[in-house]
Amino acid sequence: MRTEHDVAADPAERLSRALRTAIAAATGLAPEACDPQVRPGTNPQFGDFQANFAMALAKQLGTNPRQLAADVLARADLSGIADRTEVAGPGFVNVHLSASALTDAIDAFDTPALGIVPSTDRHAVAVDLCGVNVAKQMHVGHLRATVIGDTIARVHERLGRKVWRENHLGDWGLPIAMTLAALRRAGADLGRITLEDLNRAYRAAQLEGRDDHAGLVAARATHAGPHRVAELEAQNAGAALAQEDARATLVRLQSGEQALVDDWQRIIDCTMREVFETADVLGVHLTERHSRGESFFRERLGPVVEAFVKTGLGTEDDGAIVVRYPDRERPMLIRKRDGGFLYATTDLAACRFRVQELGSDLVVYVVDARQRDHFKDVFDAVRMVGWDRLPDGTQARLVHVPFGSVLGPDRKPLKTRSGENFTLKALLDEAIERGTREVRARSASPDSPTAGMSEDELAAIGRAVGIAAVKYADLGSDVTRDYVFDLDRMVSFEGDTGPYLQYAHARIAGILGKALDAAAHAPARPRAAVGEPAERQLALAILRYPQVVRDVAEHNDPSRLCAYLHLLATGFNGFYQQCPVLRCEDPAVRAGRLRLCAVTKHVLRDGLGLLGIVAPERM
Ligand code: ARG
Repeated sequence: MRTEHDVAADPAERLSRALRTAIAAATGLAPEACDPQVRPGTNPQFGDFQANFAMALAKQLGTNPRQLAADVLARADLSGIADRTEVAGPGFVNVHLSASALTDAIDAFDTPALGIVPSTDRHAVAVDLCGVNVAKQMHVGHLRATVIGDTIARVHERLGRKVWRENHLGDWGLPIAMTLAALRRAGADLGRITLEDLNRAYRAAQLEGRDDHAGLVAARATHAGPHRVAELEAQNAGAALAQEDARATLVRLQSGEQALVDDWQRIIDCTMREVFETADVLGVHLTERHSRGESFFRERLGPVVEAFVKTGLGTEDDGAIVVRYPDRERPMLIRKRDGGFLYATTDLAACRFRVQELGSDLVVYVVDARQRDHFKDVFDAVRMVGWDRLPDGTQARLVHVPFGSVLGPDRKPLKTRSGENFTLKALLDEAIERGTREVRARSASPDSPTAGMSEDELAAIGRAVGIAAVKYADLGSDVTRDYVFDLDRMVSFEGDTGPYLQYAHARIAGILGKALDAAAHAPARPRAAVGEPAERQLALAILRYPQVVRDVAEHNDPSRLCAYLHLLATGFNGFYQQCPVLRCEDPAVRAGRLRLCAVTKHVLRDGLGLLGIVAPERM
């Protein structure tokens, strides 16, 4: 529950409450049915807030909306909240806040909580993020699954929820067995192997195991020549052997044969070392604790299929078991004819586990948009079988956050110059190098706040800038869309970028640092200055922060936070242009402006923290 104190703090809340009571009094309706529809004003000239209740409500009651709005205002007790109200157009209510309501609100807001009230929902939230496959290097696709997932997790944590970060590693099944079998045939020393070696072995094993029966038929039919036919015959025979070896390896692994299990664990360790290193560079909370791979669910796959068969939801189809849906043709395969289980079977087990054993009433899957159909099928099957119910009867929300691809300048999936997939590591190295170059260049100017800093300090800032550039670009636009990876634009200190926000924060730190020297006699917590329009706008923007954080959590959409922080930073720059701070003559106004600076800085730092972006004090 939100406390009295918090409600009192937020002018939008206070306004809503007062208007709701007045609407109920004017119409005789129950207060719950009287949403005043308070929104931030679109143009400061017409007030700080707008209440839009009158039009729909008047229609419902068969009265005149302007008259209704006037009746409500006549009954509303807005003392201490509004200086002035007016009815405009068809019945909009414009509200001009009083200065004291604003300064009171800033005072109440300016605590470490920054107006964010802890959720009373004791259920957990599970966030499926990262999702790398063992023996494969992280590429740009994993950037998105990791960074977006981490931010969503942080936002729910910030709202006081228990969050499970679930890294659903691809660490089980035939592809791994195939790699493992190939490595063992080659006598590789798995204790010392690098991820690059593993990656190569993985691809080679995939190629080796790939047969081309259609190619052989075609080669024979088109008389492609004995050489080509023999080649294809050999490939198919080799593939059959490799597949056989992989299947046998999987069976031995499944039965727990120690030497194999040990080798398998070595492959996992080798992969995860790099994943955790990369997570660290990215400033993402992801450790061993968060790994619950496909192998974790291996004993649960049989029972999953049984449960579907028993309820009649899983039916036989030519020896296989499928789930059918009332509204579409496409069935979901959950057991193959040979008895093998599938990616989908594991996801059914994992979803049930997250809801019923981890106690999550929200499960968010941050996975590539190309898996949309897969998650639609899995979620619908989970709902049909009732596994979206927690033990206490609560129904869980299952959400897929489908993200788009990272594109190169040619608008095709990002590749290196030699045409290979970019490893995430290479990409981050380049971003850090670009960020560092930018920071070094700036520090060369003698009046830069970073002039004279040590190489180490500059390198740390450069690193923060490079990572911020990449993360902000990844989080800042509609996640479902593809975006073009353009480091030049991303590391810029201007525009809609991560470094722009960091720079705004560091700039405020600089102003506050200078003020500190002269402020020995100033009051500790001066009232915020809200006399000038730019001051009011900044104060109002600051106060919107908690609602933005709630929105991000509600929609699992980090771009809303990015847009807000950008607006706040721009609002600050506008304020700073119009309202001198350090050179302000009036000591009370100066102190009030400094207060606004300080609160803006807190919000920027907190918001960047939710994006997992470091906010240096000097840049
Ligand atoms: N390993 C999977 C892949 O590379 C992604 C896992 C996503 N999470 C899930 N629960 N299916 O496609």
